[in-house]
Amino acid sequence: MNGPRSPARFATEPLSRSAHMSKRVFIGTATVAALALSVFALTRPSDAQQAGAPVPPVATLDTAALKGPKQPILFRHDIHAGQLKMQCQYCHYSVNVSSEPGIPSMQTCMGCHSAVGGTTDAHRAEIKKLRDAWTAKKPIEWVRIHAVARHVRFPHSRHIKALGNNACATCHGNVARMPQVYKVNNVNNMGWCINCHLERKVTRDCTACHY
Ligand code: HEC
Ligand code: HEC
Ligand code: HEC
Ligand code: HEC
Ligand code: HEC
Repeated sequence: MNGPRSPARFATEPLSRSAHMSKRVFIGTATVAALALSVFALTRPSDAQQAGAPVPPVATLDTAALKGPKQPILFRHDIHAGQLKMQCQYCHYSVNVSSEPGIPSMQTCMGCHSAVGGTTDAHRAEIKKLRDAWTAKKPIEWVRIHAVARHVRFPHSRHIKALGNNACATCHGNVARMPQVYKVNNVNNMGWCINCHLERKVTRDCTACHY
């Protein structure tokens, strides 16, 4: 819980992820607000229409056919990270500095969505779920997709430092093109870890990865 920024924990943090809470880093309200404002200034909805490749509105997406677990709100990475070109680290802010990348709190979302209500009926319907949850102070219970077993240590920050800031795609695939996140690599397969460690001449000592 001791992050490099503020250790304050939001009441809005998802409950379903509480198992991982002890490992997660939280940042303070002021920091979130400042970040949100600076990015919001760069990504006003009017600019957003021009940035990146056009993506289909929810209404024309076959949501039932999307890969990956269905989330309580259809939060589209292809819109936020793709079309709006938001940096992964804007939301997964602790990925460089801690073992856990962190899932953003509702506060991060509301930095924009108290103003951005959506331009299509389908977008408005999904954003309304976010706003209702915010008003009710009811955390969004995002379904976790990648999780290694408790006996395994996976330090995200070490990997990002070694593989570079754009390394996310090496392990997670091109998330910026995904309407809904799905698992591209089986992170619960030791062979996957070992293959890369072998290739890159990194340790294969059991105790490096196992508690
Ligand atoms: C506007 C905030 C935001 C941005 C920007 C963002 N994400 Fe996310 N990300 C989320 C939220 C919220 C979730 C949880 C819901 C979901 O899985 O879609 C998530 C989930 C994920 C997951 C799945 C986590 C799990 O449960 O295993 C991965 C992987 C991920 N993001 C990678 C990325 C990458 C890579 C980028 C940049 C290309 C990125 N994200 C940009 C908000 C964001
Ligand atoms: C930097 C500003 C910004 C932040 C931060 C942000 N969004 Fe958005 N979001 C937008 C814009 C702009 C749109 C496009 C609205 C439109 O044109 O309909 C959008 C669209 C959406 C939509 C409708 C399209 C879709 O993805 O299904 C949802 C739902 C949504 N956002 C949820 C979230 C959630 C949840 C978070 C926090 C994890 C978040 N947003 C963070 C700016 C932002
Ligand atoms: C070397 C492979 C690798 C790279 C590179 C990588 N990840 Fe991950 N990611 C994983 C693994 C493995 C997990 C599961 C970790 C766990 O359970 O502790 C994971 C989990 C996640 C989660 C879910 C964690 C949570 O707290 O719910 C998010 C979000 C995520 N990664 C985002 C990112 C982003 C953003 C980047 C790039 C900045 C990135 N990852 C780079 C392998 C990687
Ligand atoms: C795409 C390549 C790649 C994949 C996949 C990968 N790693 Fe790594 N890993 C690296 C690199 C490169 C380093 C070296 C980082 C450094 O030098 O600090 C590293 C370092 C580590 C370390 C630190 C080792 C030490 O010296 O203390 C651990 C622990 C680790 N990885 C665990 C894992 C686990 C667990 C998985 C699978 C869930 C995994 N890695 C998957 C590339 C990878
Ligand atoms: C680079 C990281 C890494 C190294 C090195 C490593 N492992 Fe693993 N190991 C993993 C991962 C990841 C899993 C899958 C965990 C999961 O199910 O999420 C795993 C799973 C296992 C399992 C299966 C446990 C289960 O949950 O069923 C055993 C046993 C195991 N490892 C033993 C070893 C031994 C012995 C060594 C040394 C020779 C070793 N591991 C080295 C990452 C590693």
